[in-house]
Amino acid sequence: MADSYSLDSYIEDLRQITREIDDESEIISRVGPLAQRLALDKGWLEEKHYDADSEQGFGVHLLHEEPDHTLAVFVVSWLPGRGAPTHDHGTWAVVAGVEGVERNIGYKRLDDGTRQAYAELAVKHDHNAAEGELVCMKTGGIHSVHNETGQITLSLHTYGKHFNHTNRSQFDPETNEKKDFIVKVE
Ligand SMILES: [Fe+2]
Repeated sequence: MADSYSLDSYIEDLRQITREIDDESEIISRVGPLAQRLALDKGWLEEKHYDADSEQGFGVHLLHEEPDHTLAVFVVSWLPGRGAPTHDHGTWAVVAGVEGVERNIGYKRLDDGTRQAYAELAVKHDHNAAEGELVCMKTGGIHSVHNETGQITLSLHTYGKHFNHTNRSQFDPETNEKKDFIVKVE
C-alpha cells in the first residue's frame, strides 16, 4: 500500500513549491499531482464536510490558509442539482475531484475588460470531472460548476489566495453582467 499523504504534508509541499516557483503554470503543474493524491487519500475528510448551504447551493469548508490568506485549501460540497455561477478566482486554482462527478464549463473572455461591470464570455470547454480528476486555472480563468447528479459531490480546492480576499467576480453569460462574488465559508 502506498504511504498515506496528510493535509500537513500537502501544506508543507505547497509552501515549498510557492517559495521556489513564481510561474503560475509551473506552480499548477507541481501542485496538481499532489492535490490528486490528497483528494484520493481522504484521511483528512470528515462527516461535516458534506454539509452545504441550501441558499448558496454548496458548502465551503476551509482546511487551511496562511495568515496572509495565501495557500487556501477548501473542501467544497455541492448539493444535487445545484452549482456555482460563472466566476473567476483572482488567483490560480487547482481543483481535484473527491467524490462524484462535477460538470465544469470553462469560458473565455471576449471583450477588452474596459467597460465597468460588463464582460462578454464564450464557452471554451464543457467537461465532467470525476473523482481524482483535476480542473486547473491560472489567474483570470473563468468557469461554472454544476452537480447534475442525485448525490452530494465533493472536491478539494487549492488557491494561491483565499478567494474572498482576491476581489474576484461572477458573470452572467446571458446578460454580460459582471459583479463581485463573495461566498459563504462554513
Ligand atoms: Fe471556481
